[in-house]
Amino acid sequence: MRLNIAMDGPVGAGKSSIADAVAARLGILHLDTGAMYRALGLKALREEIDVQQETRIVELCQGLKLDVQVGEGGQRTLLDGQDVSSLIRTPEVSMAASTVSRYAEVRKRMVALQQELAAARDMIVDGRDICTTVLPNAPLKIFLTASPEERARRRWKEMQAKGDPASFEEVLAQVKARDEQDMNRPVEPLRRAEDAVLVDTTDLSFDQVVEKIVEMAEVLRRGE
Ligand code: DC
Repeated sequence: MRLNIAMDGPVGAGKSSIADAVAARLGILHLDTGAMYRALGLKALREEIDVQQETRIVELCQGLKLDVQVGEGGQRTLLDGQDVSSLIRTPEVSMAASTVSRYAEVRKRMVALQQELAAARDMIVDGRDICTTVLPNAPLKIFLTASPEERARRRWKEMQAKGDPASFEEVLAQVKARDEQDMNRPVEPLRRAEDAVLVDTTDLSFDQVVEKIVEMAEVLRRGE
């Protein structure tokens, strides 16, 4: 059986770092699907295309030269042949990604690419619509979340460590704005699939969360 773990959750729930750690423990790969929407957001910013203009963004997406390489050493996102893995991590690209991800035609292309990648190897895939749309038949589905304050606190600490002067209030406002946009878009909004296991990390340590998910996956592997 293909071991696909589908994981959704709001911004700052820790999906990416948790998925990395779970993948390493289980010896499987990690596909971060947000990177694909980010690459499109970055391309729009580079070409100075207004992300609110759906038709132009859909056109841009259709011609997008995007290559996602997932391996044991992590994921590389290539845009027009250039490794943009770090360049897609800015707040501007985050907001642009959130906007371009609202468009149905954009989602169609990204979902197809994600399904193709996930069919080839055992992997944990994280995003917003993985349990509901990309891998609805995955044997393990998880909705990872934490309170907005806790998610903002974690992000703020990370930013401080990098010397970013943003205040906690600013970070909390950004978290809430992206929640609002991701949960209220008309096409495939972020929501918990009925059969996804809810993992609330507000009061759990990083290691406790990883352990919980690894245990569930190991039960599956043993066929219990
Ligand atoms: O997970 P992330 O912050 O890197 O995602 C960036 C944006 O892309 C996020 O605002 C929502 C969107 N996204 C999505 O709509 N569907 C996914 N499967 C992954 C991300």
